[in-house]
Amino acid sequence: MQKISVAEARRLESVGREVVLQGWVRTRRDSKAGFSFLELNDGSSLGNVQVIVRGELPNYESQIKHLSPGCSVTVEGRIQASPGKGQSTEVVAQSVTVHGAADAESYPLQKKQHSFEFLRTIAHLRPRTNTFGAIARVRNCVSRSIHNFFQEEGFLYVHTPIITTSDCEGAGQMFRVTTLDPANPPRLDEEVDYTRDFFGRPTYLTVSGQLDVECFACAVGKVYTFGPTFRAENSNTSRHLAEFWMVEPEMAFFDLADTMELAERFLKRIVGDVLGQCAEDMQFFNQRIDDTVIATLEGIVQSQFVRLPYSEAIEILKSSDEKFEFPVAWGHDLQAEHERYLSERQFQRPVILFDYPRTIKPFYMRLNDDGRTVRAMDILVPKVGEIVGGSQREERYDVLLERMKEQDLDPEDYWWYLDLRRYGAVPHSGFGLGLERAVQFITGMANIRDVIPFPRTPGNAEF
Ligand code: 4AD
Ligand code: MG
Repeated sequence: MQKISVAEARRLESVGREVVLQGWVRTRRDSKAGFSFLELNDGSSLGNVQVIVRGELPNYESQIKHLSPGCSVTVEGRIQASPGKGQSTEVVAQSVTVHGAADAESYPLQKKQHSFEFLRTIAHLRPRTNTFGAIARVRNCVSRSIHNFFQEEGFLYVHTPIITTSDCEGAGQMFRVTTLDPANPPRLDEEVDYTRDFFGRPTYLTVSGQLDVECFACAVGKVYTFGPTFRAENSNTSRHLAEFWMVEPEMAFFDLADTMELAERFLKRIVGDVLGQCAEDMQFFNQRIDDTVIATLEGIVQSQFVRLPYSEAIEILKSSDEKFEFPVAWGHDLQAEHERYLSERQFQRPVILFDYPRTIKPFYMRLNDDGRTVRAMDILVPKVGEIVGGSQREERYDVLLERMKEQDLDPEDYWWYLDLRRYGAVPHSGFGLGLERAVQFITGMANIRDVIPFPRTPGNAEF
């Protein structure tokens, strides 16, 4: 007998096969006629497969009649067409082996609807729910789609370091990495002496792989890095995590317009793949989480993203009737409410904002001829706001040096980054897509903590 997944067992083509299925019982229902129905799920699809267990099985009274949600079993049986509504197949069990019981009294996942807040306190068990199983599959689909897209476009996947000495975004939100004893660190003139730390200098968890991946773009052309990034920003919002995954493509000989075009095609590809490959899960999100989500995604695949200079966005926001909590003024960073207004209300599709004031963006972005703005671009989408941040990079040595000094960075710390501008400098550009923001947008989930397996936020690192 062949071991197959529940997803496969649910397909009509499987009728007639004798198979082995393994998974967890979602529910048990006993018929008066002396047999039981089990709903079995193994995570391969949202839907369960119904297993019919006849009373003649030797462990029927002793084990089957005690099965409750969460118990794990192996079922051997034959797949047949199901007369029941809402399912095309069912399995008639020849044997059911029980592996692990799950005490019905204490098992935290009861049949009722649990709040997402409660499920965060049992993050080790929430993957067993419909919602979190569906999120895991969509997240996997997005990750695969990211790799497929860039591989097909001829990009090289580059692995950039997690431990770093440089603050790419210059926002001072880095987690320190140290092996010094916090109670008794070595000191030199009152200060902690980091020359005696593991790396001989202060080190941190990276906020972005960009600076390192630029070295590869300036050698092999088109590259991307995709990994965890860390930000110690103390923001308790529904779209910030302290640890999140980011994919960062970086392209030599690309200007900002080329980069916008690539990012737009990239987002459409991811969304299209999820709609095509996770149709059942997306139906679920549309029914249970956000009834506009599929229409929004279908709209995105067909739409042309708006391209809007920051300065024009400020004018639009200023002249709108909306009462914003945060004031709008040229030179201020946009808040989530402003980003959402533009994509949700004003344009009702993704908006690529570009040419931001130099004062609110990092040192590495290319200065425009106006001297006040840089070649930055952010992509804003309905509900989530910023999903992508990117720019054309400053490739002119002298200008970059000035920008570093302006932002109080020590050029000596970035000597290797500056070298890229001394030897064979090229125009180049790139962007970063936050994986969780993408999954949040695609599934319609309200809180980013629910689209990463084990969220890390201020005060939370359990599991
Ligand atoms: O805009 P950010 O800070 O850009 C960079 O890090 C650049 N170095 C990227 C590049 O050009 N290679 O971050 C990029 C994206 C954001 O648009 C957002 O989607 C996500 O990363 N992001 C976060 N996601 C979750 N939690 C946080 N705290 C995030 N901060 C940024
Ligand atoms: Mg940003």
